[in-house]
Amino acid sequence: MAVVRVAPAPALRGTVRVPPDKSLTHRALLLSAVSDRTVDVERPLDSADTRSTRWALEACQVEVEGELGDRVRVTGRGLRGLRPPPALDCANAGTLMRLLPGLLVGLATDHVVLDGDDSLRTRPMDRIARPLRSIGAAVYTAPGGTPPLVVAGGRALAAATHRLTVASAQVKSCLLLAGLFADGETWVHEPAPSRDHTERMLEAAGVPILREGGAVGLRGPVERLALPDLRVPGDFSSAAPLVVGAVLRADPEVRLSGVNLNPLRTGLLRVLERMGAEIGVEEGPAEAGEPAGDLVVRRAGALNATEVEPQEVPALIDELPLVGLLGAFARGVTVVRGAAELRVKESDRIATVVGALRALGARAEEREDGFEVFGTGRLPGGEMAAAGDHRLAMLGAVAGLASVEGAAVAGFEAVGVSYPGFAEDLVTLGAAA
Ligand code: S3P
Repeated sequence: MAVVRVAPAPALRGTVRVPPDKSLTHRALLLSAVSDRTVDVERPLDSADTRSTRWALEACQVEVEGELGDRVRVTGRGLRGLRPPPALDCANAGTLMRLLPGLLVGLATDHVVLDGDDSLRTRPMDRIARPLRSIGAAVYTAPGGTPPLVVAGGRALAAATHRLTVASAQVKSCLLLAGLFADGETWVHEPAPSRDHTERMLEAAGVPILREGGAVGLRGPVERLALPDLRVPGDFSSAAPLVVGAVLRADPEVRLSGVNLNPLRTGLLRVLERMGAEIGVEEGPAEAGEPAGDLVVRRAGALNATEVEPQEVPALIDELPLVGLLGAFARGVTVVRGAAELRVKESDRIATVVGALRALGARAEEREDGFEVFGTGRLPGGEMAAAGDHRLAMLGAVAGLASVEGAAVAGFEAVGVSYPGFAEDLVTLGAAA
């Protein structure tokens, strides 16, 4: 396990092009694979998670030429053309394990077993298995609702209206994909809007998307998808730790270029604004049907504490750990609530964020559905564990450069799941290696 030490940095400056979006890369590969055409995907993310998706599709006899990180050409096999092997390894990739079954239930195949690493094996899969069974699919989990997941094709699927109890783009996406094979209208209602990448990409592939009062739907059965060639914009969730580092240390400015600015992903910007930071947004041309552009950050003055409300949570679900870190530097008590979902991410992010902040000298408390951080305007520093979680590893590094004594991050290699070049990019901006 790699222990990486990050020293306090007096100032950050410069420009970084953050890696391509992970959520969009998974979807671009999956929807290309079931298109009726050969699709060129430019700048797909090269990381542990997206490699898992590439391998899974290749194991389903999809031809993928070229390199992730540069450009891949995917020879689509058609909506009903995947040929899955008896077993597929999803490693750490929750998005793969939750989206792919939506496509597998429409095939005429025998059963497929989807499994993953120790972390993925603790994550809830009954949230897709149950609604998929309700429409007639044969999808089973281990006792406790966790992987391995067994998916069998060959069943007639019914169209249905699904009411989700948690806002989850992964569950919504899975049910919409399954709806492509059902006869009639499939609708998904969510308690709060989650990222809409799947809907946008299906629309680009020629599937009319129905929207009504916050619910999203489509009419099946769909015969064919034709995803156009696309270029993946940068990942807001990878820009986020650099934005936070820049808020705490930039002088005169840090620019993050070509970032996906989908409003259902950028909730952190609205929270930062409330805390007193100024982030410039320079929107450029859309990429892959998503708004995209540059983020420009200058050092903020004193930060105010804030409260993140349940309705806001889906638009910054992966950035909530960073809100905890910001809270340590703010004046007052920063509170996150309505975020019980954090307990079932790559780690129990309520426990691991509070544990990491405390290890670095902050005062933080767990709540059942979030956390509280009692800000003192500074962070002493120390040694913390990434707990196998990429977002925690990046939080630790940013904490280190803004702290008094620096931070040692045990298990730093977890960054490879979404941002393999994170350490190099921090150094580009002026962090000491
Ligand atoms: C993702 C959705 C979110 C997010 C995850 C990626 C996606 O998960 O936390 O990192 O690509 O759809 P949930 O849908 O479970 O909230």
